[in-house]
Parts: sequence; structure tokens; C-alpha cells
Amino acid sequence: MVAPDFETQLTAVALQVEQLLDSLLMDTALEGEIVRPDRLLASMRHAALAGGKRLRPFLLVSAHKACGGPVADGALIAAAALECVHCYSLVHDDLPMMDDDDLRRGQPTVHKAFDEATAILAGDGLLTLAFDVIASPQVHPDPRVGLQLVRGLARASGVGGMVGGQMLDLAAEGRHTHGGQPLKLLPEAIRQLQAMKTGALLLFAVEAGAILAGASLDQREALARYGRSLGIAFQIADDVLDVEADSATLGKAVGKDEAKGKATLVQVLGIEAARREVQMHVEAALAALARFGPEADPLRDAVRFTGARKR
Ligand code: IPE
Ligand code: IPE
Ligand code: MG
Ligand code: MG
Ligand code: MG
Repeated sequence: MVAPDFETQLTAVALQVEQLLDSLLMDTALEGEIVRPDRLLASMRHAALAGGKRLRPFLLVSAHKACGGPVADGALIAAAALECVHCYSLVHDDLPMMDDDDLRRGQPTVHKAFDEATAILAGDGLLTLAFDVIASPQVHPDPRVGLQLVRGLARASGVGGMVGGQMLDLAAEGRHTHGGQPLKLLPEAIRQLQAMKTGALLLFAVEAGAILAGASLDQREALARYGRSLGIAFQIADDVLDVEADSATLGKAVGKDEAKGKATLVQVLGIEAARREVQMHVEAALAALARFGPEADPLRDAVRFTGARKR
């Protein structure tokens, strides 16, 4: 069962991250910048400050705690950087030439509230801001640790991570076939696509927390197993919600995956098998935490929440 106060814990981190994002998205130009154009800044703020569960920041901060990391702002700053990448990924995911969505986090998507070109630039702005923020010396005093985080975030976000997964997701819609035969993915290929488009950033969240806390190799390996399982569970749960939830609760459109011909496990295995797979990955993630004591309870709650999530 998800701990009854889990939502309170999640909200507490969300508030801290939002305050930080708010301060990072002020209109004052920083050293090395010239000016921050009003419209671009407003669109970035729309993307980054309008709600969201902030699960990735929660995972980063909780992994940091589980590995005995000191209570310091570094983990929270890294978490805000990761959330910038996530928000950018949503802005681009929603674009008309991607998933073509009008509603996100209960608000008009950025291209609806502004326009498509502005939405592309808002995404670009958030992605680059993320690297500025995670490279900040306030994240960790040792620049070698900072570099590890920068490279880890780049790899989780890029061609072999989230962006690569988004490419495979579009390919699986059958967009790029020329012989008229839509690509038909086997479950294993769908799992890989999802591990990339969604799993990579969730995995990086726990890895970054561990790196910042100076975790042992054992701890890091255990958290990586946890992160991979949580990542898969998270996206399958998202695909189940796309079929079962309502748009008001989710804050985004539903029924889109079938309409777009997305390759999901719900589509190839059916909803019951997909649900069972979510539970299996939740159990695997919990098992990966066996070597941790109560200090990893927030991570345990986070994966139980992922398995049972309604939003
Ligand atoms: C939505 O992510 C996109 C996926 C990776 C499935 P979240 O469900 O974490 O979205 P927010 O941040 O809470 O809005
Ligand atoms: C999105 O997956 C993954 C991203 C990299 C943003 P979805 O396309 O299923 O996410 P939603 O349902 O639009 O939030
Ligand atoms: Mg998508
Ligand atoms: Mg989408
Ligand atoms: Mg979805």
C-alpha cells in the first residue's frame, strides 16, 4: 500500500522545486546572457511552473537521502535541472507534428497558449537551462562530480535515451515506412522504446541522487535496478491510464494512444497483461531495495505510487 502521507511528501518536494524553477526563470539576464525575451520566458514559465507531479525530483532527492547524502540544496538544484529536461520533453511531445495534444497538466499546451515556433524555442530554452543549472558549483563542490552529472543527464536525455526513444515511438506509429507495411513491434522492442523515452530520465533521477551522495557501487547498482523497473512500470501505467482514466483527473487528453496507433503493451498484450506487468516491475523495484533500511522508504512509496497512480 502507498503510505497515506505520500502525497504530502511529494507535494513538499514539488513546492521546493517550483520555488527554485521560479527563481531560475526570472527575467534578469545572468552573466554571459544578453536579455531574456519576454515571450520566450513566459512560454518557459508556462511549461515549467504549471503543475506536474515532480516525481523525478522526488526520486532524485529520495535516492540521495537513501544513500546517506547530507541535507543540502545540491540535490534539489540537480532535481530542478532534471525537471527542466522533463518539462521540455513534454512541450515537444505535445507539438502538432509529435503527439498533437492541446492539454497538459490541466492547461493549454505551450503551442496552444503561445504558438508552435515559440513552443519549440521554449523546449530548447529549458533543455539548455538544465545543463546550466546542473553544472552549477552549488550542486556539488567537486567539479568531477558535476561533470559526471552533466554527462549522465546528456546521455539520459539524448540520442540513446529520451530523444532516441521518442524517435522509436514515432517510428512505431508507422510514420516512416515506405513499403506500406506499418512497423509491428514485438513486446520486447516496445519495452526498449519505453525504457528510452521515459525510463532513461527516471533512472537518471536515482543515479544522480546516488552520485551526489557519494554512494557505494553496491548502492548504485541496487538503485539502478530499482530505477529501471520503476521506469518501465511508469510508462505502462501511463498507457493504462490513457485507456482508463479521464482527462480531468489526468490533466491531459485520453484515448490518444489508440487514435495515434502508438505501440504500447496495452495494445499488444491487452490491458490485464499490462496491469500485471506494472505490478511485476513494482515488485522487482521493491526487491532491488532489499539492502536498504527505512531510509529508502520514500523510494518504496514512490514505486508503489507509480504502480497505483491515478494521475
Ligand atoms: C508524463 O510524465 C510523460 C511520461 C513520461 C509518461 P509525468 O506523468 O511525470 O508528467 P507530470 O510531470 O506529472 O505532468
Ligand atoms: C511521453 O510519452 C514520453 C516523453 C518523452 C515526453 P507519452 O507521449 O505517452 O506521454 P503523455 O501521455 O503525452 O504524457
Ligand atoms: Mg509521446
Ligand atoms: Mg504524448
Ligand atoms: Mg501517454
